[in-house]
Amino acid sequence: MPVVKFITARGDEHLVNVDVNASVMEAARNNDVPGIDGDCGGCAACGTCHVHIDAAWIEKTGHASDGGESDMLEFVEGADEYSRLACQISITEELDGLIVRLPLAQH
Ligand code: FES
Repeated sequence: MPVVKFITARGDEHLVNVDVNASVMEAARNNDVPGIDGDCGGCAACGTCHVHIDAAWIEKTGHASDGGESDMLEFVEGADEYSRLACQISITEELDGLIVRLPLAQH
């Protein structure tokens, strides 16, 4: 089962075992990782699951897709080239060890 490391803006680390095909947003919410709200349930409509992918992992996760995800990230505070919506990243075995950094806030 792949493991994802979430690092909060304060530097707290949360290691979470994640089922393949679960989203990074679901992984955080199901394991009480603070800082990912996921208000829309995963349809790229709220932007409250914004995360920064660790630079070493961005090639594997890919950048934000054109359209809905990129459009939503334009409205998110502090978004940068490593920003993704956590609900739009499905976990695969290749993402075992993924490092995800959480923003200071989701609004
Ligand atoms: S959960 Fe709403 S955009 Fe990801």
